[in-house]
Amino acid sequence: MRSLVVFGFICLFAPTDLLAGDMEAGTKVYNKCKACHAVGPNAKKKVGPPLNQVIGRSWGAIEGFKYSGGKEGTLLVIHEAEPRTWDVETLTAYLRKPKDVIPKGKMAFAGLKKDEDIENVIYYLASFDADGNPVDPEAVLVDLAAEGE
Ligand code: HEC
Repeated sequence: MRSLVVFGFICLFAPTDLLAGDMEAGTKVYNKCKACHAVGPNAKKKVGPPLNQVIGRSWGAIEGFKYSGGKEGTLLVIHEAEPRTWDVETLTAYLRKPKDVIPKGKMAFAGLKKDEDIENVIYYLASFDADGNPVDPEAVLVDLAAEGE
């Protein structure tokens, strides 16, 4: 009974649509990112930075990766003006239309049209810790939601 109450409490305050994320669907959506991004143990820089533990990570945090910078509208310049973190909100906007968030950014990707694709790929990305080992994505997303309160 007690666990039921706790469960109900979590459901009430968590972003329920994300908690319902579908790992298999998210893995498929991630195929669109794979040419440029790596996840998992020993993830390397590719055209884009590795995405281990990207949720909750500061913008432009991968050392040695050449992020867009130097002029207005680039990732580093936007981040320098006001430091930002990749959370569900910023990631959703960025993955929907990268140029809306970072107008002069380097990510040559048109964006994901379907909300469910965005939700599921975020869920998938939440399943990697900093070393690329598996973690429970729901715990990551609940923690993040709690921090934002
Ligand atoms: C054609 C290559 C390409 C594709 C495809 C691509 N990206 Fe990127 N991505 C990049 C590049 C390059 C950057 C660096 C952007 C900058 O410096 O402005 C980036 C940056 C990012 C960042 C910011 C990381 C950080 O460290 O701040 C995230 C998050 C991200 N991409 C997620 C995704 C996801 C999820 C997908 C698939 C849905 C995807 N990208 C598809 C090339 C790509």
